[in-house]
Amino acid sequence: MKNDFYELTTIIRSAAPVALLIAITVLAQFVSPKAVAAPNGEQIFKGNCASCHAGGGNIVDPKKPVKGSAKLASVDKFKEYLLKPSGAMQPAPKIANDAQTLDALYKYCKTLK
Ligand code: HEC
Repeated sequence: MKNDFYELTTIIRSAAPVALLIAITVLAQFVSPKAVAAPNGEQIFKGNCASCHAGGGNIVDPKKPVKGSAKLASVDKFKEYLLKPSGAMQPAPKIANDAQTLDALYKYCKTLK
């Protein structure tokens, strides 16, 4: 009995450094610069679009909201529209030409209902 217990504590002790290493690796995912720098669609929308499209609507022309827009049919169509929009909507080339930012914003716009 006493021997079994001793063996168990030995196994746990030798496994501890491995467990610590795994924990550090997992935690590193959350603090890596990549995770911090990843563009956030909601923030991009709030900073660049929400002034006219609050809540996914359109305060300038309520008949043309972002939510449910045909311009969201594909990311390519969305990019095309942002580069060459219609009416009073201003082009947003900085967003449209950055694939990661465009993708994040596109995904967020698709969630608007
Ligand atoms: C200065 C106000 C303004 C800002 C800022 C703005 N928009 Fe617009 N947006 C408009 C107006 C006005 C229209 C309607 C254009 C028209 O008359 O065809 C429009 C239309 C759209 C449409 C097409 C809606 C439809 O189906 O006809 C989409 C999609 C859109 N905007 C997305 C965005 C996104 C994404 C951003 C941020 C990058 C943005 N807009 C920023 C004013 C704005």
